[in-house]
Amino acid sequence: MKTRITKLFNIEHPIIQGGMHYVGYAELAAAVSNAGGLGIITGLTQGTPEKLANEIARCKEMTDKPFGVNLTFLPILNKPDYAGMVRVIIESGVKVVETAGNNPVEYLPALKDAGVKVIHKCTAVRHALKAQAIGCDAASIDGFECGDHPGEDDIPNMILLPRAADELEIPFVASGGMADSRSLVASLAMGAEGINMGTRFLATKEAPVHENVKQAILQATELDTRLVMRPLRNTQRVLANTAVERLLQTERELGGNIKFEDIASEVAGVYPRVMQEGAVDAGAWSCGMVAGLINDIPSCMELIDRIMHDADRLILHRLLDITCE
Ligand SMILES: Cc1cc2nc3c(=O)[nH]c(=O)nc-3n(C[C@H](O)[C@H](O)[C@H](O)COP(=O)(O)O)c2cc1C
Repeated sequence: MKTRITKLFNIEHPIIQGGMHYVGYAELAAAVSNAGGLGIITGLTQGTPEKLANEIARCKEMTDKPFGVNLTFLPILNKPDYAGMVRVIIESGVKVVETAGNNPVEYLPALKDAGVKVIHKCTAVRHALKAQAIGCDAASIDGFECGDHPGEDDIPNMILLPRAADELEIPFVASGGMADSRSLVASLAMGAEGINMGTRFLATKEAPVHENVKQAILQATELDTRLVMRPLRNTQRVLANTAVERLLQTERELGGNIKFEDIASEVAGVYPRVMQEGAVDAGAWSCGMVAGLINDIPSCMELIDRIMHDADRLILHRLLDITCE
């Protein structure tokens, strides 16, 4: 399958693994890239340019295929050294950056001069148009279903993707709720050039996280995610657990007076405890509604091969059969 996205990123299959905090290490990125997709290292988990350089070097030892780095721009005062991370990305020869969280315009000239392709993750068509206007090469359109930050518009992908197709000239991938060949074929039908997956890649053999996390996703249904931090306009879709229910209770009690400090104990410093120690009830951690479609823990190669194989069957049999009858 050749699409504008496979050509842009020089990959075999139109499947991207989105950046994931404390999940997107070299092991996962390399496994996805070795399977013909685009694996992505999460820059912020490394935290400093030096550690990121080290992680990129580790990934290069595990794959000779293209992989990318995610840069998530956070709305915080003590900003990480983004410029240093951009420098390291360029110096190490990484050819793709996934940006998210805020407008990447400050870093685009350096990345573009070095020939790095930038795919910006957006939850609204107007943000994708802005990304296009400032020179991003592609967009990742993250619907309301998605794990992590769905934005504040609450538009699911059945609407968001065709809206993006109507407006955008740059290629885009569908993100949020993607799990299998049905997701891929439906996304292509709605104008996307591929898919981006987070939660589905979290439940793979190579995801370097505690087994409890994978089992929690297997056990979850599509009813088991919650939206937290909505009153702070920093909405995050997370897996329901006791800490999340406490957090939501605090949000209900404090209403519009809530401040980040009021819920910090349920959200700050949670990721290492969940992903590394397996304390899945320690606080709020991102998970998409797509958990309801995840019933196994395949290798990345098995997952991607299955999606591509079943997509062929879907297109050549189901779609052709019903249109030719
Ligand atoms: C555990 C987890 C952590 C995530 N961390 C980040 C992150 O640090 N930066 C980012 O841009 N997206 C992050 N995401 C979002 C994913 O890259 C992707 O856009 C999203 O998961 C797509 O929705 P899905 O989970 O339905 O596939 C995270 C998602 C999950 C599940």
